[in-house]
Amino acid sequence: MEEMWLTDEEIFELTEQFGTPLYVYDEKTLRKRCQELHNLLPNKNFRVSYSAKANSNVEFLKIVKDEDIDVDAMSPGEIYTQQLAGFPKERIFFIPNNVSSEEMKYAIDRGILVSVDSLSQMKMYGQLNPGGKVAVRCNPSTGTGHHEKVVTAGKKTKFGIQTKYVDDVKKIAAEYKLNIVGINQHLGSLFLTPEPYVAGAKELLDIAKQFPGLKFIDFGGGFGMPYKENEGRLDLKKLSAELDKLFTEFLADYDNKNVIFQAEPGRYIAAECGILLGTVHTIKDNYDTEYVGTDLGFNVLKRPVMYDSYHSIHVAKKDTKAKDNTKHTYNIVGNICESGDIIAKQRELPHIDENDIIAVRDAGAYGFAMSSNYNCRLRPAEVLKELSGAFRLIRRRETFEDLVECYVLDTEQKNKKRA
Ligand code: LLP
Repeated sequence: MEEMWLTDEEIFELTEQFGTPLYVYDEKTLRKRCQELHNLLPNKNFRVSYSAKANSNVEFLKIVKDEDIDVDAMSPGEIYTQQLAGFPKERIFFIPNNVSSEEMKYAIDRGILVSVDSLSQMKMYGQLNPGGKVAVRCNPSTGTGHHEKVVTAGKKTKFGIQTKYVDDVKKIAAEYKLNIVGINQHLGSLFLTPEPYVAGAKELLDIAKQFPGLKFIDFGGGFGMPYKENEGRLDLKKLSAELDKLFTEFLADYDNKNVIFQAEPGRYIAAECGILLGTVHTIKDNYDTEYVGTDLGFNVLKRPVMYDSYHSIHVAKKDTKAKDNTKHTYNIVGNICESGDIIAKQRELPHIDENDIIAVRDAGAYGFAMSSNYNCRLRPAEVLKELSGAFRLIRRRETFEDLVECYVLDTEQKNKKRA
């Protein structure tokens, strides 16, 4: 596990200035991860497209763009945000699932390339944009991922088009005069060894052979990083060598020697540059379990509750003089009205007191992006640690007014809201 890029001194400075819960992102780490993937295959025509569902903060997107990384979108809302961050249409790839014709049209009207992931969505696309360019999402035989909920390929998922339908894809393309410019896939989220990605890439390249003249082949994201203290890093050198070899073999027989090989990582780029800070409000013992009660409910970070995910915890001690060196086994919990609201289970940590700060590491991906207003809780602020070391607010904390913004209020309520 990498060194913390935030000192305890900075943690207290930040929490005093901005309050908690607070997401903090490190620009240096973010750029480093972008560069590692950008340079993954220096000898090939290779592009990286950041999967913005991991973190869509506009300032975050601007940094990714500045690192010469493109972006993929899952929804019109993501397209909207990405265009706001300055991504031109050529650098956005729309990879939706089960969209309405209005949503598909949103991308077409803006000249953004769409990937279709079923025969019926391909027909819909053909009707909306006959003669247009399109990409087709394939579903290889096996997926991968840290939890069954994030495996997005293979026999048990809703995504992509099975290989046996290749002839139907070609028929629909001919019927609507569609130009299939790319094929794509996404195996699932989080692999820590090259094998599953390389095996999936092999399968997609076999399908690519049935589509001459492709402009790009996109192998999806899923690149993992170690959440646990004892986990090793994904061996990028090995992954690079294996993919390079595979691509060289493929190019020997493929008609378009300039085909672009693409990847769409989200987590690898966004996770490690994010830390979530929360305050300890309560320490209590309940039937022999020691609970640390914080403001880090699952409305703020959903991953532990949704996938039993592990995030490493750092404790910043408010009062260092009152040091108690005993280790404890704690359940770190939030302030939401559900027993499952546990951010870290049975974790061995130094003695914790009220007002200490809990720093949840590797929270930059699928952290804020999956946060909610459950229990009418306010979504947290986001701060960026710039390259200079200065901290800048990049999203303000929500207010009670934000909570009721979309309700249809009568005059009396509107007046109360303002008061
Ligand atoms: N491409 C497509 C089409 C995707 O659906 C995804 C993620 C990615 C790329 C990026 O995957 P990544 O490189 O981040 O693994 N909320 C879950 C992860 C869900 C991923 C959904 N799709 C989590 O917190 O672990």
